[in-house]
Amino acid sequence: MSSIERWESPDTKHADIEEILYSQDVLKKRIAELGRELSEAYEGQLPLFAGVLTGAFVFFGDLVRAITIPIEVDFVAAHSYGHGMESSGKLDIKKDFRIDPKGREVVLVEDIVDTGLTLNVLSKHIMDRGAKSVSICTLLDKRARRAAPVPNLKFIGFDCPDQFVVGYGIDWAERYRYLPYVGYLRPSVYSKAISEQEPAQDRFREEKTGCRNGC
Ligand code: IMP
Ligand code: MG
Repeated sequence: MSSIERWESPDTKHADIEEILYSQDVLKKRIAELGRELSEAYEGQLPLFAGVLTGAFVFFGDLVRAITIPIEVDFVAAHSYGHGMESSGKLDIKKDFRIDPKGREVVLVEDIVDTGLTLNVLSKHIMDRGAKSVSICTLLDKRARRAAPVPNLKFIGFDCPDQFVVGYGIDWAERYRYLPYVGYLRPSVYSKAISEQEPAQDRFREEKTGCRNGC
């Protein structure tokens, strides 16, 4: 297939994707709405928008272009240490702010809020650094799996069922980030990995606690 054919049908499903959950078109419309909501909420405040690497990079790029007020932009990469579902409250910062969050209205932009452990600890850390406020904007909210409170989760793109999703920046073992939609990864992809390489869920768990394959 030529590259032209490929981009003529960007929502054409990848063979490893069981079902498209949110198509390009649906994502685009909701992100335009989020841009309006954020622009109204932070009018006149010059907020500092921080994309949480790596999963949020595509969403972040589209979101900031839907904002109609002046903002500043940065990236952060961090993981909370914990055992199983319990967070120790310690934070491993892989990439810190370049712009000082002190005295700023900070908006953390995330791909998925899952257990909530990382954003719970990261938000406290940013407040400890003297931020005026920290709000979270996430593309997907997997609220069924919440283990830590995330009271500052104020802007949500979509609900996400308790299933493993990829695409639109979101990966499994660093793959599928480039897909222009969000879709369910076929369980057979995990099974294959379990029998041939490493257990998918172990890698997923490691990513949350140890940041083994990026963040
Ligand atoms: P938590 O909220 O601290 O549990 O971590 C959320 C992070 O886990 C997200 O930013 C993703 O990196 C990862 N994550 C959670 N659910 C999924 C999924 O379905 N696919 C890929 N990554 C996921
Ligand atoms: Mg993430």
